[in-house]
Amino acid sequence: MADFKMMKYCLLCLTALICLCSCTSVEYKTHPPVGLSVNEGLKNPLGFHTSNLRFSWKLPPGSYQVQQAYDVRVASTIKQLSSPDLWRSGKVLSRQSTFVQYEGKPIGSRDQFFWQVRTWNERGQPSAWSKAAVIELGLLNNTDWQAQWIGLTETSELLFSKQQTRLYKTRYFRKPFVVENINIKKARLYVTAKGLFEASINGKKVGDTWMTPGWTPYQKRIETLTYDVTAMLNSGSNAIGLALAPGWHSGRMGHAQRHWIAKPAPQGLAQLEIVYENGQKHVIATDHTWKGTTNGPIVYSEIYDGEQYDARLDIRGWNTALFSDREWLQAETSPIADDVKLLPKSHPPVRVKHTLPAISVQEISPGVAIFDLGQNMVGVPRLKIPVKKGRSVKVNFAEMLKKKDELYTDNYRTALSRNEYIPNTNGIVEWSPTFTFHGFRYLSIDGYDADETPDVSWVSGLVQYSDFEPTGTFNSSHQKLNQLHSNIVWGMRGNFLDIPTDCPQRDERMGWTGDAQVFADTSMLNAGVHSFWSAWLQSMREDQLDSGGISNVIPNITGNFSMSGWGDASTVIPWSVYHATGDINLLADNYEMMRKFVGFYEAEARDYIVSTQTVGDWLQPYSHQKDPRWGDTDETLIATAYFAYSTKLTLDAARILSKPQDVAELQALYTNIKTAFDEKYFDEDGKVTSAYETQTSYLLALGFDLLPEYKKQYALARLVKQIEKADFHLRTGFLGTPLLAEVLDKFGHRDLMFRILFNENYPSWFYSIDQGATTIWERWNGYTHKDGFIPKMNSFNHYAYGAIGEWMYKRIGGIRPLEPGYKRIGLAPRPGGPLTSAEASYESPYGLIRSEWVKTDTTFKMMIEIPPNTTAQVDVPMTFSQTLLVNDTLVSEHAKINLIQKEAKRQVFLFQPGSYTLSVE
Ligand code: BGC
Repeated sequence: MADFKMMKYCLLCLTALICLCSCTSVEYKTHPPVGLSVNEGLKNPLGFHTSNLRFSWKLPPGSYQVQQAYDVRVASTIKQLSSPDLWRSGKVLSRQSTFVQYEGKPIGSRDQFFWQVRTWNERGQPSAWSKAAVIELGLLNNTDWQAQWIGLTETSELLFSKQQTRLYKTRYFRKPFVVENINIKKARLYVTAKGLFEASINGKKVGDTWMTPGWTPYQKRIETLTYDVTAMLNSGSNAIGLALAPGWHSGRMGHAQRHWIAKPAPQGLAQLEIVYENGQKHVIATDHTWKGTTNGPIVYSEIYDGEQYDARLDIRGWNTALFSDREWLQAETSPIADDVKLLPKSHPPVRVKHTLPAISVQEISPGVAIFDLGQNMVGVPRLKIPVKKGRSVKVNFAEMLKKKDELYTDNYRTALSRNEYIPNTNGIVEWSPTFTFHGFRYLSIDGYDADETPDVSWVSGLVQYSDFEPTGTFNSSHQKLNQLHSNIVWGMRGNFLDIPTDCPQRDERMGWTGDAQVFADTSMLNAGVHSFWSAWLQSMREDQLDSGGISNVIPNITGNFSMSGWGDASTVIPWSVYHATGDINLLADNYEMMRKFVGFYEAEARDYIVSTQTVGDWLQPYSHQKDPRWGDTDETLIATAYFAYSTKLTLDAARILSKPQDVAELQALYTNIKTAFDEKYFDEDGKVTSAYETQTSYLLALGFDLLPEYKKQYALARLVKQIEKADFHLRTGFLGTPLLAEVLDKFGHRDLMFRILFNENYPSWFYSIDQGATTIWERWNGYTHKDGFIPKMNSFNHYAYGAIGEWMYKRIGGIRPLEPGYKRIGLAPRPGGPLTSAEASYESPYGLIRSEWVKTDTTFKMMIEIPPNTTAQVDVPMTFSQTLLVNDTLVSEHAKINLIQKEAKRQVFLFQPGSYTLSVE
């Protein structure tokens, strides 16, 4: 019945839509806008987190050069869009097509509304109205909840991990209810947990999300999710189920024993709201009438240690109406605290994004086999295996093999990362764990029916990460460079699991700030992660220390330390995201944190030099330090350089946000730090004065612009010398490596960067690829064919060195923003190394930008695409004597292409939107 209602509703909407778009005799010359999104690039969000709306759209290529005007309308039903009851912007003469502020009637929790936009092109021709987009708010206030937290005390034997931390058993809760009125208009489930939840209705999982609600500073804010469950309800008897596991909240987290503190057991909070056609409302909320048990089949499930599933404890139909819960216990309740904000999740949750089939299997002994998925990945396995009653199946994971028939698990350290399935019957079982995830390429299964021959079809990998879509592509004539791009993308998929993590496999998987700040720019090119970063920055703001410092991991579970190069994520990432998107609100939201962070440095400084603690240029190869993970670059030099850099970024933000007082203060501070830095660390010949003359010292000084003009060339020459001394190899760690390409490119040594990039021996990107890398590794030589594995700290999925991706897009592909948000685009690809062709594309806030080039001995050809409502400065490598044809016509004959710069080896032209082929003859 509910299904029928749903269909009727959809049909109505469809008819209304068709009418809106076509019941008119006007013939439109321009196509309507597309790609409608709200705030941080969210499309048709359900359970949206704020009533402060900003609308964005894209103009389809072809019918526009620029947008002359727009008109937005917002209504509470599709039907009302034609005379909108919430807001009508009217025709606004403006080129703005991103982040247009909603200025209509106030909206609040649960409200659903529709919006659409039409635009005028440069000739004043209007488009039809775009397709309508929908937004529905979640519960924005704690007072919207009438539910109470529910939990349960375990009555059976308590379980502990090897580390003696509590392994909380999975909590199963249920509540039967009756739907009396068959005319359901809509039903929403608002739900969250202290821990992880999986909700179900009438025996079926609600939604397709995993690891929810996600990881935030739980003492301050917990995210809530909203699901449309209209079609899941029956008229008459129904039941809702809620399973809870520890997750980040109640499980063991952290890489040291001191982090493994006693944590409270998981609790859940759910509110099912049914609205009937007659306006009546029925609410089923967690309270003491819910019944629970801890004796269900998922015995325990932990992020580090994995999951145990005992099919003998299966409770058939526990989340259906017919089940008798007489034996179950009454839920223990506790009220919602006022000081812990319950706020709708503001970025897409984790979903299964890809399925990887196993590519090979080898039987090690009867009943034991190792499967290879061919790609280091993060998520869970899906098993479809023959089992025998009474024989438990153990699944172990590994990123690498120690021997042909042995998993390498040393690098998981104390994370057991094991699943156990205890069957209750003979035959084929299909199973995946629910409340954990693993970083792996290989898995061994021990305990399947030994009479059967293992087959690749038994196993596949469900790749899980925060549900973002790719925005960038990269391809070239060089297979290893393409593999590097793929490794960068997989490194990102593996470490954007609700928060940006250092690694996904060992006993860490935390939001290390330093790793995140060096990778942020690349991530913004790879995928639509605007909301992902915005959400994590919110956690960072909430966890900012009283001193203004930023802890090493966010959410902060490791202690109140702030390290240079790590805490600076608080200034670098807001700037990165602003730069990529043009989102000024994001900058404004984070400005106070940025300013406070600079204040933290100021308080630490003596004469503008800071010795803030830092692990420095982490993992620099050939370090001379006692613990070789620490690099050789002077730590106070690093700290002071970052002090300057964070000050500069905050100064830039203050300018954009029009804060004249701060601009004056920060400008003076920045100048003083620069002078102090130069005097303390560099001599008159531009040589660094500290004990070790490292590449990173020069990279920081040049990359952050900290030397007087005359000294830069000297310092550059010394940097180049250091690179030559290293036989044209990098000698940089986490902080220096991301600066290499930018600095060498900017200061005229692009060829040197190509040489470093295409190196095949240690240390280099291709070196790891030659040792079999399918992701970015924590160390270039984590494994070598010659020497095997580096002991202890050795992740094979660490995105930091993937920061080179930015240069691959920006220089090899050639695409970069000349203005935040790509309103003005720079297209300046340059060939180098052995490359004969490359292509990159980027789905910018204005639409697709594409840049492809092909080079022969005598010609250079570019194929470019520039989206509407932007302009591009196309920087063509050509000499005075060469000619440039655009779409087979001399460039000078194109009235709309203007030469803006001419030098011996390059000419720069201003292009308008469109697709062009450029040939330099
Ligand atoms: C993490 C890093 C992190 C570093 C800093 C490591 O254990 O995996 O990526 O940045 O610690 O100390």
